[in-house]
Amino acid sequence: YAPAPSWAAAGDFLRCLSASVPSQLLFTPGSPSFSSVLVSSIRNPKFLTPGTVRPLCIVTPINASHVQAAVLCGRRHGVRVRVRSGGHDYEGLSFRSVQPEAFAVVDLANLRSVRVNRASATAWVDSGATVGELYHAVAKASGDRLAFPAGLCPTIGIGGHFSGGGFGLLQRKYGIAVDHVIDAVLVDAQGRFLDKKAMGREVFWAIRGGGGESFGIVLSWRVRLVPVPPKVTTFIVPVSVNDGAVDVLTKWQEIGPALPDDLFIRVVVTNGVATFQSLYLGTCDALLPVMRGRFPELRMNRSHCREMSWAESVLYIYVGSGKPVPVTDLLNRTTLMDTSNKATSDYVRQPIGRDVWAEIFTWLDRPNSGLMILDPYGGEISAVPEAATPFPHRGGVLYNIQYMNFWAAGNDGEPNVRWIRDFYAFMAPHVSKNPREAYFNYRDLDLGRNVVVGNVSSYEAGKVWGEKYFKGNYKRLALAKGKIDPDDYFRNEQSIPPLAKNK
Ligand code: FDA
Repeated sequence: YAPAPSWAAAGDFLRCLSASVPSQLLFTPGSPSFSSVLVSSIRNPKFLTPGTVRPLCIVTPINASHVQAAVLCGRRHGVRVRVRSGGHDYEGLSFRSVQPEAFAVVDLANLRSVRVNRASATAWVDSGATVGELYHAVAKASGDRLAFPAGLCPTIGIGGHFSGGGFGLLQRKYGIAVDHVIDAVLVDAQGRFLDKKAMGREVFWAIRGGGGESFGIVLSWRVRLVPVPPKVTTFIVPVSVNDGAVDVLTKWQEIGPALPDDLFIRVVVTNGVATFQSLYLGTCDALLPVMRGRFPELRMNRSHCREMSWAESVLYIYVGSGKPVPVTDLLNRTTLMDTSNKATSDYVRQPIGRDVWAEIFTWLDRPNSGLMILDPYGGEISAVPEAATPFPHRGGVLYNIQYMNFWAAGNDGEPNVRWIRDFYAFMAPHVSKNPREAYFNYRDLDLGRNVVVGNVSSYEAGKVWGEKYFKGNYKRLALAKGKIDPDDYFRNEQSIPPLAKNK
């Protein structure tokens, strides 16, 4: 792998770490298990090429003092740490550096307890847990009466997912993960443990959607849980272009964000087919008249209904095979490594015209094309004010688009990446503008990356990507960063640059 330019600090850093962290929790490139620990939660094999800049060491803490030691030793010896919870970052920034650099990874996979308090409908969840582990624990402790509104893929890590926003099938009813975070424990750049009160209002605001990696290492989160009926209804209805997908999709853009909050219908658009996937917080009997009245074009009927618990519905929609999946699969942390991918995102505030949808299907029919996932907003996700959390995509958003393209691991994916970039350029006139909004958790370095000036990331240069992810909240994030980490110790290619007050 590509060596860092200066490893001078590495020896001192490792000696410092060894004084506080047992050797079996430290992995250097010479350790027999280094590669297996490194790849343990990597989701995208394109970050396993020989050119990938890897860490000089991986620390796998089993208690909070090990995390603190990594930060203190890192600061003392000039080695940055990157923190990894679930490893799902689209650009791999939790375990690789784009530029050659000597850095360490703090991998939180061992810190993953979930403690549910049914009586108060709250839970403490550690960053190293997956959302699947959280969902499983919440459903079990509450007899399927409580849930948590976050992402669909069960293997995503709590740490990255929560600190970047976290949306999923319950977003129209309850908003997103960060709307329900009521406390957290952060290790800051001085190695202090800070709860909500100790970190202060601005930093607590910032870690709820502004990207945790800029502010420290979040160890755990206290969240408010939300009520769900013991049985919910799902459906999956594919509509081909020949059967009118263009018209149904055109209509969905206005209906999807305006339906009752209990009803969420997203669309996966692939070559020739739009697949409508839905979660309804009620019975099939109650759903059918709503669908007949509001969205008859979809021709959804009783044969499409599947009633199940909320926890089962996550897997049913995520796997999408139309077959039930055992709820214990929420606990499966292994990820498939057979395809690499590239993704990016957009927000739509004005419905896209029918003729444009027809043209979009021709893009999806090209060689090396990918897919689109459309998540409807409206309801609670859109009712929260833009500045309440750093996640600014609220009132007026009709839906989010995620573009994704896949290729076999081992190929370079060049034509697939080119397709996604060309398609993104084609979409420009049809999506949000000034800024062209993007979702931080669908990280894309094509949107821009930090420029370091005088050993600090530049606030001005960061605006290029920062205002796309955070709109007017970017400046407030930079001020919060200026407070908690003015030296810019916690830094990556898209971390929030520090801004001193009154600048
Ligand atoms: P990872 O560990 O790679 O961290 C991501 C970033 O957060 C890194 O910069 C890292 O340093 C930082 N970080 C991680 N832990 C931290 C901690 N404890 N303290 C401070 N900083 C920390 N999103 C969504 O909203 N809804 C969805 O349904 C999905 N679905 C989905 C499916 C699949 C297959 C993928 C690969 C991704 C998604 N996502 C998503 C996006 C997902 O929310 C995003 O990639 C998260 O950042 C992943 O968090 P991890 O902890 O897994 O990533």
